[in-house]
Amino acid sequence: MKYLSDTKISEKKVLLRCDFNVPVKDGKIIDDSKIVKSLDTINYLLNNENTVIILSHFGRVKSEDDKKNNSLKVVYEELKKYIDLEFIQNPLDLSVIKSSSKKCFLVENTRFTDVPEKKESANDLELAKYWASFADIFVIDAFASLHRAHTSTSGLSNYLPTYLGFLIERELTNLESLINIQERPFLVIMGGAKVDDKIGIMKSLLQKCDKLVITGGILNTFLKVKGHNIGNSLVSNDEAVLNDVKEILSNYQDKILYSDKFVVARGNGVKEVKLEEIEDTDIIYDNIVDLPNLINDYKLVFLNGTCGKYEDNVFAKGTKNLFEHLKKSHTKVYIGGGDSASAVINLKYDQDFEYISSGGGATLEYVAYGKLKALEYIKNIQKD
Ligand code: 3PG
Repeated sequence: MKYLSDTKISEKKVLLRCDFNVPVKDGKIIDDSKIVKSLDTINYLLNNENTVIILSHFGRVKSEDDKKNNSLKVVYEELKKYIDLEFIQNPLDLSVIKSSSKKCFLVENTRFTDVPEKKESANDLELAKYWASFADIFVIDAFASLHRAHTSTSGLSNYLPTYLGFLIERELTNLESLINIQERPFLVIMGGAKVDDKIGIMKSLLQKCDKLVITGGILNTFLKVKGHNIGNSLVSNDEAVLNDVKEILSNYQDKILYSDKFVVARGNGVKEVKLEEIEDTDIIYDNIVDLPNLINDYKLVFLNGTCGKYEDNVFAKGTKNLFEHLKKSHTKVYIGGGDSASAVINLKYDQDFEYISSGGGATLEYVAYGKLKALEYIKNIQKD
């Protein structure tokens, strides 16, 4: 694999794949860290007289209607504060690049090409060929998208010399400590809402770590399978997932930890309760992980996901508590991206940990399996 840092690219046309899939609330970006972290590569390319055509996906696009809420325009407005660029409205028509005097372009959401027929997500090579026809070089810097082998993350490498950007290089270097574990005991903390998305990865991480704390919404399904009352809380009903949960509970009972303190919505109010006090109509929105002594016993911690609905102040106690314990510990703490990174930033713990990754699913897959689909694809195509 070739790195941008090992080469000098100047006066070229560069297709640059970033991950600008940032969280937005009420039309405002609530965590701009993916944008800020991409600026190193963008500025390097622009300072070396290259023309830069930026591609990114944004949200999930499955229908014509989804396009209304998933335009990259909101990112364009933010990016304009840092660089002079033009927005290209149609990812299937980049012809404006040839007549524009601008040096930098942001192309509308690559996933718009998935409707009516999947192109980007199907790694359509005709589309790759079309996009590649506007450039001499492909630089990929979208670490958070590397678990997807799509046209803009992989297919392009069939047609253009490909380099990994500065953001990806930093991620791979920093996450190395979680791939080849040199420091033990190693604790994994997994939270977040949906157990279905994380169960496979949890199985793999259980083989690597010394203990695993389950928290957040994903804990509900484990509690239900164990026969506890969890009221009306979010739970998985997927047969395969339930079987995996059972298997984990029986094979790894010595490795798994969780806290039995919760904050639930009850009637019109909010109540802190122990597991056995949960009533039929309660909804669990927060799990209070009180593990100060436990965390101090570990040399290395990987955290992915939050303890609850931290965006709502009444349900932020568990996540804040956990961050506070981690901050005070003498442990090296790595934060997986996505929601956990946004929580760390929004609750103002961003200076307190060893490393905060920009990837959500990508970081999880990399830490669990040591591989990322797009990187494997590119490695195969760009053999030298
Ligand atoms: C992310 O935010 O984790 C990445 O941008 C990937 O998004 P996706 O899960 O929609 O592919």
